[in-house]
Amino acid sequence: MNIGNYQKYISEETMMGPSSVRILDELLRLCSLQFNSDNQILDLGCGRGLTSFIIAKETGAKVYANDLWISAAENKKRFIKWGIDRQVIPVCEDANHLHFEEKQFDAVFSIDAYHYFAGNKGFFENNIMPFIKDGGIALIGIPGIKDEFEGRAAELLSDWLGEDSHMFKSPKLWKEIIGSNNRIFSVRTWEMECFDTAWSEWLEIDNDFAAGDKKYFDLIIKPYTCFVGIEVKIA
Ligand SMILES: C[S@@+](CC[C@H](N)C(=O)[O-])C[C@H]1O[C@@H](n2cnc3c(N)ncnc32)[C@H](O)[C@@H]1O
Repeated sequence: MNIGNYQKYISEETMMGPSSVRILDELLRLCSLQFNSDNQILDLGCGRGLTSFIIAKETGAKVYANDLWISAAENKKRFIKWGIDRQVIPVCEDANHLHFEEKQFDAVFSIDAYHYFAGNKGFFENNIMPFIKDGGIALIGIPGIKDEFEGRAAELLSDWLGEDSHMFKSPKLWKEIIGSNNRIFSVRTWEMECFDTAWSEWLEIDNDFAAGDKKYFDLIIKPYTCFVGIEVKIA
């Protein structure tokens, strides 16, 4: 994908953390499936819908843009403004209680969101996998802790994250958390390459959240954390 095509949509309004576009780009490059307008994709925890828009443009698929904190009405206004409202459907549901059809989606993408709600074993199997078609895929990119610091998140990250530090888990641990099932063909987790670029683009943004992160970047974020990529192929 050519990120330059989306530059005008990447702004203080649409960004909610390290560049979701960089994370999505790395996931799309690894995605083995080809999509078309008959396919349906779920963007889980889509925030202000920037990644949903890009997924729709890049794949041609119908995209369900689901988020909890941002209302469907707010995202709908943006999708109308971006001229994509016939292809991207805003939904506001908790990932713990989704109401989609069984095996509805060819793919589920989730960027900088999955760690908020899916950190327990069995979550993928019970709450996400039922909505993915046979032969489908889940591609997830989230912040986490590097493998060598697993188990030390509270000690190393709490000055920055407070009580949320427990959400930061290593690639190795995420593989265990996704677990196995006779519908899961393979699970792969890795430390993503886009870390530096995604963070530097976020730290350039002029808002209080980015300024807060900036204070901890050299001391905590860069030495101990990473972005965890998770690819789950469904049999
Ligand atoms: C840091 S924001 C990232 C949003 C967007 N994916 C991005 O990268 O810009 C995390 C998102 O996770 C969503 N989220 C958190 N808990 C959720 C839940 N239980 N169900 C659905 N979405 C949830 C929030 O609504 C929020 O928009």
